[in-house]
Amino acid sequence: MARTVVPYKIKIVEPIELLSPLERQERIKDAGLNVFRLRSKYVYIDLLTDSGTGAMSHDQLSQMMLGDESYAGSESFYRLEEAIQDIMHLPFVIPVHQGRAAEQVLDHVLIQKGMVVPGNTHFDTTKAHIEFRGGRAIDCTIAEGRDATCDHPFKGNLDLGLLSQAYEKYGREQIAYVLITVTCNSGGGQPVSMKNIKEVSEFCRQNGLPVFFDAARFAENAYFIQQREDEHKNKSIRSIVREMFSCVDGCTMSAKKDGLVPIGGFLALRDEKLFEEMKPSDILFEGFYTYGGMSGMNMDAMAQGLMEVCEESYLAHRINQTAYLGQELIKREVPIVTPIGGHAVFIDGRRFYSGIPEDEFPAQLVVVEIYREGGIRAVEIGSCLAGRDPDTGHNIRPALDLCRLTIPRRVYTQEHFDYIVDVVDTVHKSGRSRRKGLAFDMETKGIRHFTSTFKEL
Ligand code: F0G
Repeated sequence: MARTVVPYKIKIVEPIELLSPLERQERIKDAGLNVFRLRSKYVYIDLLTDSGTGAMSHDQLSQMMLGDESYAGSESFYRLEEAIQDIMHLPFVIPVHQGRAAEQVLDHVLIQKGMVVPGNTHFDTTKAHIEFRGGRAIDCTIAEGRDATCDHPFKGNLDLGLLSQAYEKYGREQIAYVLITVTCNSGGGQPVSMKNIKEVSEFCRQNGLPVFFDAARFAENAYFIQQREDEHKNKSIRSIVREMFSCVDGCTMSAKKDGLVPIGGFLALRDEKLFEEMKPSDILFEGFYTYGGMSGMNMDAMAQGLMEVCEESYLAHRINQTAYLGQELIKREVPIVTPIGGHAVFIDGRRFYSGIPEDEFPAQLVVVEIYREGGIRAVEIGSCLAGRDPDTGHNIRPALDLCRLTIPRRVYTQEHFDYIVDVVDTVHKSGRSRRKGLAFDMETKGIRHFTSTFKEL
């Protein structure tokens, strides 16, 4: 077996505590069986998200000391801009405080009522911003991406047939832009192949459609391309990243993921005219266009983070940590989405609790039970999150009802992973005969999964 190489050692630690079983029972009850409502000090291992939860490096911390907090023309902004230009080869940068802010600025300029945005399973805030502008997101993910066990290496790919159907139906005027999410979070952290990126890009160029990346996990996607697409296996991550970005008109970025920072984001663009059009929206929503809601320190940490995230030793360790967790769960016959994605392991709620009806939120019940059993906080990416159809008001039944074990970057060790495996295995073994799931106690309108409460049936 190949040796595991961990490309860092621990210099600072943050204490965590495991509450007693009785206390955990109480805490989750008080939270209305919704882990978003838990205080973090009641959580032992936090797998809610990989967003803003990574550990920074000492190089990032030292760069922060250079932070220039000038309102306009901050040196920190120019260092960030240079890093983005260097890595992504996109000339124009609009800083924002996080990914959804980039979505807001982009959609404010590009979407008018009645327009559509075809893409591969848009992230929930992405979809919500499109709908907020009066548009609609059209899911064009390949059929394999909706199948939890199909062994396709690039389940985030877009279906060119569905894309051209959308084009035939809506035409150039009604399509605001095409969005490729790398990797595809809502689809299970699944990558998009370089071949597919090029095909989609070519289609868009031929038909005069702008095409953007949702680049939150661009480096992880590049790593999968290097590992799984033969013609790219001898290329560096940096060159794969450049090749990916050469296919698009720009990107939105949540730097809380592959920017390796607690908060931050940006838009990067190829077209100067669009850049000029977006500046006023950035000023309106985020702040002056050389800080966009971030501090100078923040921007310097991000500039350094973007470089570190492209290091091969970092990516190999990162993706292998996720794979380790997934493989250990597979060995114990816990049903998960395969191939294992980049930032998370997704448990298939419907197979985990096969006796529980689909509309009784089986994946949410998995989330609740692994907190009770081991103080681990996961998150539902399924029926609850999918919400209601904005046109009909009916509950949307998503293709997959998943419990996501999301891995923060550079935070947990193999011992933590072994603990997680044991807890999930125990919950799985003891839950096979369950027949009853959850119902809403209080369902909030809008993005409901953050605040709604549940009761056990
Ligand atoms: N796009 C993708 C693919 C995401 O995963 C996220 C956030 C966003 C956009 C929005 O970015 O949070 O910085 O505003 N995903 C987090 C998650 C919240 O837990 O998956 P943001």
